[in-house]
Amino acid sequence: MASTPPQVVFGSSEAKPDREGTKDSLGNIRETGVFCVNIVEFAARDAMNASSAPHPREIDEFEAAGVVKAPCETIPCCRVASAPAALECRLTRIVRLAGEANWAVFGAVTGVHLRDDCLVDGRFDVTRYQPLARLGYRDYATVREVFSMTRPTLPA
Ligand SMILES: Cc1cc2nc3c(=O)[nH]c(=O)nc-3n(C[C@H](O)[C@H](O)[C@H](O)COP(=O)(O)O)c2cc1C
Repeated sequence: MASTPPQVVFGSSEAKPDREGTKDSLGNIRETGVFCVNIVEFAARDAMNASSAPHPREIDEFEAAGVVKAPCETIPCCRVASAPAALECRLTRIVRLAGEANWAVFGAVTGVHLRDDCLVDGRFDVTRYQPLARLGYRDYATVREVFSMTRPTLPA
C-alpha cells in the first residue's frame, strides 16, 4: 500500500467456530501484533491450497500442509523457508469493514527475505520462480512472460 515506509494490507473475511468473529490468521495477529506475508510460487500451489483448510486453532498448519518453516528475524513469527519472498510485518491497524466478519489488516514491513536464486544483478527477478495469482472461482494463473515499460515524464 505504501513504499516509504513499506506497508501492506490484506482482507480477512468470514469466521471459524473456535475464533470469535474471525479466523486464526487475524486471531493470531491480534495476540502477537505481527505477521509474515509469504509469496507463493507455482511449485508451492498444493501446499498453499492445503493451508487454506479450516483447521482447529491448535493445529500447526505448517505441519498439516507439509511446509518447512524458518524463523523471522525482526518479529517473533515463522515464515515459509522456501518462499521466493517473505515480508515480516508489524501490525499497525485493524479496520472493521461492513458485514459480519470482514476486516482489513494493515502492517508495516520490518524485514524482507528474497530467495538467493531469485536475485539477478541485485534485482528480484520474477522469471526465476513463476508467481501464482488467484483468479475467480477455483482458477489460478502463473506468470511466465514478463515485459517492462518506462513511465512517461512531462516536459519541464
Ligand atoms: C488462494 C487463496 C486465497 C485466499 N485469500 C483469502 C483472503 O484474502 N482473505 C481470507 O479471509 N481468506 C482467504 N482465503 C481463505 C483462507 O485461506 C481460509 O479461510 C483459511 O481457512 C484461513 O485460515 P486461518 O483460520 O488459519 O486464518 C484464501 C484461500 C486461498 C486458497
